[in-house]
Amino acid sequence: MTFNLRFNLTTVSMHENKFEFSYKVYDNIDELPEEQRSLLKKAQEVSGHAYAPYSNFHVGAVAILSNGEIVTGTNQENASYPVGLCAERVLLASASSQFPNVPIDIIAVSYKGKTQKNDHPVSPCGVCRQSLQEFESRVNHPVQLILGGMTGEVYVIDSASKLLPLAFTNEEL
Ligand code: THU
Repeated sequence: MTFNLRFNLTTVSMHENKFEFSYKVYDNIDELPEEQRSLLKKAQEVSGHAYAPYSNFHVGAVAILSNGEIVTGTNQENASYPVGLCAERVLLASASSQFPNVPIDIIAVSYKGKTQKNDHPVSPCGVCRQSLQEFESRVNHPVQLILGGMTGEVYVIDSASKLLPLAFTNEEL
């Protein structure tokens, strides 16, 4: 005897949810408003402070806090590869340590690869998205992200949490 497990007579009330988010795309850094342009320029510069001898992928992140302070971060690698830290989390840890509970208004992220092209934006990795989401939620303030390479298009995302739909959050704990 055979059963067709795919045939289901019960009525289901399944529905679909949809996530959408929009972000701005500028053709190049020169099109950005002044504040964002200078932060992205600074992120390009500080990428040179990265310690990335294993990936040769140098990432710079620069934040402006709501108190006007500027904080930077760069990726810091280690011979034991998983020990390495991304620029975004170095920045968040630094901002949080120096200026506890002060919201971050904007973070600009850029990079310079030794062999890679630097002509397009890269977005934060999954772990950094998780950290950014919790930072936003604990100070109850969105972080605008400015993402760009050394040349090329620039993305502006109004809230970092938009990059992490269905996030696992501290509300579960
Ligand atoms: N990295 C960052 O610092 N930020 C990102 O958004 C993506 C990746 C670092 C981690 C590692 O040191 C190197 O780039 C290559 O993955």
